[in-house]
Amino acid sequence: MSPDISIRPAGPEAADSVAALHAASWRTTYRGILSDAYLDGAVEAERAAFWRARLAGTAAPMVLIAREGDRPLGFIAFEAEKDAEFGGLIDNFHVAAEAKGRGVGRALFDAVCGKSAAMSPGRGLYLWVIDANREARAVYARLGGREADSRTKSGGDGTPITVIRVVWPAPDVSA
Ligand SMILES: CC(C)(COP(=O)(O)OP(=O)(O)OC[C@H]1O[C@@H](n2cnc3c(N)ncnc32)[C@H](O)[C@@H]1OP(=O)(O)O)[C@@H](O)C(=O)NCCC(=O)NCCS
Repeated sequence: MSPDISIRPAGPEAADSVAALHAASWRTTYRGILSDAYLDGAVEAERAAFWRARLAGTAAPMVLIAREGDRPLGFIAFEAEKDAEFGGLIDNFHVAAEAKGRGVGRALFDAVCGKSAAMSPGRGLYLWVIDANREARAVYARLGGREADSRTKSGGDGTPITVIRVVWPAPDVSA
């Protein structure tokens, strides 16, 4: 990854940057999974409201944002000790379409592994990925994740979606 790329914690002031990355990623990645009406309409305002509230709240997750100069490239959100069996939850993980495949995702993931190991030594990590999101599932396999159980939930627009839990029982923090 380029040395010009930084990874830093994101506070409430980064809510709009995180929301813009999130909405743009959903518009591309979830096309055909969530409704066009939602992706072409409400998603941007809905994500902005979501992240402003979430990052200002007392129960805010740890959010790390990758930037090249001032330009936001991607983010990852993490909640330690979310599940008694699986450990910490990676709640959102998105890299801008034009920055994908440059190592930003691995760097964000490695940073969370490091934080998790420091906060909860020996505990695992997990996330939920939509079953139709083949690209992300391939990336998670490459990052050492193992697919476990699945469930059906409601997507951002209410569409029922099947999600698969990906687990890292003991993430590698040697990187
Ligand atoms: C998933 C995502 C965050 C990964 O970020 P990224 O910056 O593209 O990932 P990286 O370039 O760091 O690649 C990470 C690893 O996966 C591999 N990889 C990247 N794209 C891949 C693909 N399409 N298929 C298989 N492996 C892939 C890379 O080679 C790298 O492995 P390596 O470090 O051993 O070489 C990014 O692709 C993304 O934002 N996707 C759209 C949104 C999304 O689906 N988010 C997940 C929601 S659960």
